Amino acid sequence: MTKYDRSAHLKEVHNTYQKVDEAINRLIRANENINFNSVSSEAGVSKATIYNNKDIRERIETLRKQQAQVPTAKQAKREMNENNKDALLREHRLNALQDCAKDMKKFNERYIPVTLPSLPFKNAKFDILLSAHFLFMYSDRLDYQFHIETLNELLRVTKEEVRIFSLDDLEGKRYEHLDKIISYLNHHGYTVEEVKVPYEFQINAKSMLKIIKHTK
Ligand SMILES: C[S@@+](CC[C@H](N)C(=O)[O-])C[C@H]1O[C@@H](n2cnc3c(N)ncnc32)[C@H](O)[C@@H]1O
Repeated sequence: MTKYDRSAHLKEVHNTYQKVDEAINRLIRANENINFNSVSSEAGVSKATIYNNKDIRERIETLRKQQAQVPTAKQAKREMNENNKDALLREHRLNALQDCAKDMKKFNERYIPVTLPSLPFKNAKFDILLSAHFLFMYSDRLDYQFHIETLNELLRVTKEEVRIFSLDDLEGKRYEHLDKIISYLNHHGYTVEEVKVPYEFQINAKSMLKIIKHTK
């Protein structure tokens, strides 16, 4: 029977601690994942040894949990971009509101209050008509019937083309009945295009509807 050598045993335990400690430090510095596999292979210590040592096992589990909560560099960059973008768009919207208020004071006669779905203008009065941030944006309170009636009215007062921006509701989702609206317009002889634009006022709302009239 081999004699138990306490001093050799303590030395071995100490070596394991040291190897594991150095391996964990290297993995942290290299921004690598800490888990039983990675520590075992980095330290050259078997998984069984690591797992059977309560202190080491708990240390690895704690580090593994901490790492899971820290966003990766890619996630952090994406979140930062989204936050910056949101702040920039907020500022852009505020500037637009101030410009609009100034313009309304200066050229008040150019602004004609109306209540859709009807307009006080004669047929084909305008060459092109733009509708921004109104029609599909409020799809939570304006229904499909209102959209159809409004589009027909906008098309009535326009000679060539109606453009609707954007195609998203207030939650940033594509208007749920858009395909049905496009089919309706096609069926009534209009050419409809969904066009991506470089302009953004609300996050990710970057498409407009181009409705072309075919006047003979
Ligand atoms: C978000 S604002 C957009 C204003 C402008 N088109 C722009 O892009 O800055 C929506 C506007 O729609 C107007 N509005 C709401 N219901 C309307 C209706 N039935 N007919 C006409 N305008 C309406 C509101 O008063 C508000 O001024």
